Amino acid sequence: MTQRIAELRAEAEAAISAAAGSAELEQLRVRYLGRKAELPNILRAIATLPPEERGPTGKAANQVRQALEGLIAQRSEQLAGGELEQQLRRDVVDVTLPGAPPQPLGRLHLLTATRREIEDVFLGLGFRIAEGPEVETVYYNFDALNHAPTHPARDRQDTFYVTDDVVLRTHTSPMQIRAMEAQPPPLYLIIPGRVYRRDNDATHTPQFHQIEGLAVDEDITLADLKGTLLAFARAIFGSDREVRLRPHFFPFTEPSVEVDVSCFMAHDSHPPAQRCRVCKDTGWVEILGSGMVDPNVFSYVAEYGYDPEKIQGFAFGMGIERIAMLKHGVPDLRLLYDNDVRFLEQFG
Ligand code: PHE
Repeated sequence: MTQRIAELRAEAEAAISAAAGSAELEQLRVRYLGRKAELPNILRAIATLPPEERGPTGKAANQVRQALEGLIAQRSEQLAGGELEQQLRRDVVDVTLPGAPPQPLGRLHLLTATRREIEDVFLGLGFRIAEGPEVETVYYNFDALNHAPTHPARDRQDTFYVTDDVVLRTHTSPMQIRAMEAQPPPLYLIIPGRVYRRDNDATHTPQFHQIEGLAVDEDITLADLKGTLLAFARAIFGSDREVRLRPHFFPFTEPSVEVDVSCFMAHDSHPPAQRCRVCKDTGWVEILGSGMVDPNVFSYVAEYGYDPEKIQGFAFGMGIERIAMLKHGVPDLRLLYDNDVRFLEQFG
């Protein structure tokens, strides 16, 4: 029996020393020391042996069991150490490598940024934002805005006609009518959007952007218009700007005015001998058209609660491209549409 025990020991020691991982080691522990393994069975059966064999067999078997337990514990530690080592090597981070460079995020197009900037100013003044169709009927684009049947803007040379009574809107003003049809006064709205005209040169593209403003309430006066536009001009062009109103004509406002903002170009930023490129030395820059809503326009929407005898309003319309170009000194409108990132990256 001690012979068999010695054989088991040799076999188990060889296998345990060769175990390649902790899982394999656990299998060996079960095989040699587990409940059904041979060595524990021998120990359990000691009592059935002849009395003179019990002492030496028990002693030998116990020694081997202890030896194997010790060997397994030792090998287990070795393996765990090796596995940790490997794990650490796999997970190693070279902190001396340069960090991942931030991915370029992109930015808003100058026109989008400018539109949002303008929207923010009017939102702050209590206006809401609305949008409307770019393909518009002649009724909303011209008729209900009090354009005479022979008004030159209706000409096919100036306006893109889709059919005889449908056009690509030439301005955002048709939304004045649609907005008033949609809800009764009071109304404080701005309407940004694309507009279309048959024009194409350094200062005109066939498609461009406007922001319309419309305020309708009781007791609205030209002073409200001027105060609103002064706040706008100061927010966009600087807190020491002034505005000036010049008489003008639009079919749908009466009186109509063109609005100038005092030149925001620093006087020492261009050579004294050269004319200021922003205001041509006049001190004023035109920024938009506006006026008091013509009572004739209200008569088109009188049935929606707009009685020309009871309410007044002001309206204005500005070109987003023009505001962006003035503010940032962009010399050619077409730069805004070339999509050259070297140009666009300078803004936003
Ligand atoms: N719609 C006019 C234009 O495009 C601008 C404008 C809007 C004028 C509102 C007066 C009132 O030129």
